[in-house]
Amino acid sequence: MSRWLDKIFVLTGIFALLVTSQEAHLSTESPSQVFIDCYPQPGPSKELCELRGCTWKHVTKHDFSKYTTWGMFSRDENPTSATNNTYNLYSVHPFYMGLEKDGKAHGVFILNSNAQEVTTGPGPHMIYRTIGGELEIFYFPGPKPEDVIKQYEQVIGKPMLPAYWAFGFQLCRWGYQGLEEVKQVVARTRNAGIPFDVQYADIDYMDRYKDFTLDTQKWGDLPEYTNFLHENGLHLILIFDPAIQVDDDSFARAKRQNVAFIEWPRKDLVPRETQEKYPLANDTNIMLGVVWPDRHVAFPDFLDQTHFTNDWWTNELAHFHSKVPYDGIWIDMNEPTNFGTNEETPWYYNFLDHPSIEPLKCPIVGADSNLDVPPYQTVNVYQWPENTYLSTKTFCMLASTMRGQSRFYDTKNLYGWSESVSTYKAMRKATGKRGAIISRSTYPSSGRYVGHWLGDNHAKWDDLRTTVIGVQEFNMFGIPYVGSDICGFKGTTTEELCLRWQQLGAFHSFSRNHHYWKGPAQDPAVWPRVAKATKKANLFRYHHLPYLFSLHFAASLHGGTVMRPPFFEFPQDEETHNLSYQFLWGSSLMIAPVVQPGVDSVKVYLPKDSQWYSVYDYSYGQVQPSGYETYPAPMDYLIPVFVRGGHILPRQRPGMTTTESRKNELQLLIALETEKGTSAHGELYWDDGESIIDDFATYNYHHWEFTFTLSKSRAVLNITQTRTATDLPVPTMDNIEILGYQYTPDLSTVKLNDQPVAIDMKHSLYDSQTKILNITTMGLINLNSGRKFLLSWNHRGAQMQNGYLRNNNIVKM
Ligand SMILES: *[C@@H]1O[C@H](CO)[C@@H](O)[C@H](O)[C@H]1NC(C)=O
Ligand SMILES: *[C@@H]1O[C@H](CO)[C@@H](O)[C@H](O)[C@H]1NC(C)=O
Ligand SMILES: *[C@@H]1O[C@H](CO)[C@@H](O)[C@H](O)[C@H]1NC(C)=O
Ligand SMILES: *[C@@H]1O[C@H](CO)[C@@H](O)[C@H](O)[C@H]1NC(C)=O
Ligand SMILES: *[C@@H]1O[C@H](CO)[C@@H](O)[C@H](O)[C@H]1NC(C)=O
Repeated sequence: MSRWLDKIFVLTGIFALLVTSQEAHLSTESPSQVFIDCYPQPGPSKELCELRGCTWKHVTKHDFSKYTTWGMFSRDENPTSATNNTYNLYSVHPFYMGLEKDGKAHGVFILNSNAQEVTTGPGPHMIYRTIGGELEIFYFPGPKPEDVIKQYEQVIGKPMLPAYWAFGFQLCRWGYQGLEEVKQVVARTRNAGIPFDVQYADIDYMDRYKDFTLDTQKWGDLPEYTNFLHENGLHLILIFDPAIQVDDDSFARAKRQNVAFIEWPRKDLVPRETQEKYPLANDTNIMLGVVWPDRHVAFPDFLDQTHFTNDWWTNELAHFHSKVPYDGIWIDMNEPTNFGTNEETPWYYNFLDHPSIEPLKCPIVGADSNLDVPPYQTVNVYQWPENTYLSTKTFCMLASTMRGQSRFYDTKNLYGWSESVSTYKAMRKATGKRGAIISRSTYPSSGRYVGHWLGDNHAKWDDLRTTVIGVQEFNMFGIPYVGSDICGFKGTTTEELCLRWQQLGAFHSFSRNHHYWKGPAQDPAVWPRVAKATKKANLFRYHHLPYLFSLHFAASLHGGTVMRPPFFEFPQDEETHNLSYQFLWGSSLMIAPVVQPGVDSVKVYLPKDSQWYSVYDYSYGQVQPSGYETYPAPMDYLIPVFVRGGHILPRQRPGMTTTESRKNELQLLIALETEKGTSAHGELYWDDGESIIDDFATYNYHHWEFTFTLSKSRAVLNITQTRTATDLPVPTMDNIEILGYQYTPDLSTVKLNDQPVAIDMKHSLYDSQTKILNITTMGLINLNSGRKFLLSWNHRGAQMQNGYLRNNNIVKM
């Protein structure tokens, strides 16, 4: 991966201006679908869809019947899916996947960090434009969609593995009145029986929004409360913004430690009146901006090629960790965001919680304006109202970065990425554990270091729908630890929307309910019905976490996605090419969320050539027909979930936290493919859930492979351990549930590695009507006792069956 790092720096060190007449025309063979990076405007907007005869729809598939230009320039801009726009938002991912009608996929990655745009249009064709830097194009031949992503990750790096607890449910709000309110929210969530792992504090916990400080009035007990959370198996994630107030201790330490900041390229450009207010900045060219703190701020330059900036960031995070022992980090505002750039009267002039300090003004006319107002400014400027510049909401393009080696014009899109790399190193040092980091702004290869949340969305059904697409897209971008602000960040949610969003969000890798300061609270325990639905959805999630965790582990180890569009698994089935609102966990679990108000059913497509079993409230364990069917989804059911025949999922009895769950017995869900074959496969990865992973080759983890084979006379479950961790005991495997079981088992014949095993007949049963075999015996398989396990039993002869039928086909053995 050092190859990749070299490229980043080569790229950012060079400045060249390409004008539109030099645009690159990228015409792909004849893609029937192209998935373009320009998250998060995921597809045709409302009006376009109306042309296609539907009233609303955001889809994974792009519309080439007309021209659409997508901007890529990281911007502090919240998704507004309900409106018809193609706004550039927080992240930049110049990557797309094309899928041909015959199911063959390819991918293209255009490595460039400048302001850029893509136009898609009839043909189909696309036009790529960038206004600087190098242009390096990578082509990934696939041919399977999942191959494309693995090939892409050979260039950008494989995703990091978060701590196990980071897969637990998380709660946050910007605008908690103080720690007392947090305590109440945590208590009511736990009292409602909702599995829950992570509490956050947003910028409220800081003293006047300054990093590495604590508001001792309202949050003084945060250190003690963090200990309380830890004692109860919970964890704490804190927000840190990149901007540092320039009269604060942290800035003083930064200066003493020779930290690099984003600067004016020349002394004569420095606005003296502002600079002179700050003794610590007065003698510098550091560009001063305005963010949440009361006074001016400076932006550390995490692209600094010396160790100084990273060392300081590490020290600050470690020092604060010694006061408040947080477990994970949330980095926000790293597009980077500056308030009111170039504006005479910025919005914060009227904001109660912010003083009216002088905004940053960039040279937009004259000799020094060539970078801030280049000849072609891209749609990232043109689609916004008049008086928008590349520097709007951010720093001046002419600013110097990398200690004068580069320009903000070239490196801006890398800010969130570079802060992610630095924070990743810092957090490991500060906490001694791998923890978890989420970042708002991302760029190719961010997934190696951080996860992502889909930004400051709205409490609207359109935004819930966008979420489903966004999570699938970020998996394609190599950032599988992703999810949305459940129930909506802005606006006031409704009980129904919040309930449906909790049900959906329970199936996203990053699962956090987050809300801003306006309006009433929206944590799930606010409404009894939402609490009940969340509890149910989270119990399902926690039950299946060993599977979700194994998918993430495999993605970190081998590359690839975790949440997948159905066409990833069934590219030959053209019907899957049009699906947007269903997704898979790996290759085994199909999830069909409710994405509209006022409905109690969902139309689901189950791909042909596979057998699917319902694993939710409707007809649990029963084979469902392939093709389109409408499935019941009332609010007191889970959303429809189906397991694919031929697959084995490891699971675990859920607890109230993942800390608790991890101690509970393991289980296997085996779904048989009764038509095409008789075997099923699966795997389980297991580690201590929190150690730092430097190198998988030496990392301490377990891996087991499961194969289940069935013949007329006999069943064999083969568990083979292919990797053994030292000093890492795992709970026993006590339950095996098998769907689609066509034979009558004789559980008096069960053997483990040829030794007879006494099955707990009270808790084990075979139902010949539902074809579910459910074996439960305490300590059935102790995975710590060896590396190979063969669990087998015989079947009874067909004529014997009647003799054992009791209680409506229930055969107790
Ligand atoms: C929606 O987008 C289309 C295509 O870009 C455009 O022609 C139309 O004017 C837009 N409608 C609104 C209401 O902005
Ligand atoms: C800031 O520096 C300038 C010279 O660059 C000096 O004239 C001025 O007195 C300084 N102001 C303060 C407040 O230190
Ligand atoms: C998918 O949608 C397109 C329209 O976008 C339509 O032409 C095509 O027939 C659909 N394919 C299938 C298999 O339904
Ligand atoms: C069990 O599975 C392992 C790994 O797949 C395989 O090597 C072994 O031969 C299998 N054992 C039996 C008895 O089928
Ligand atoms: C299988 O047994 C387990 C443990 O007794 C139980 O929790 C589960 O509900 C059973 N599954 C079915 C489908 O009855």
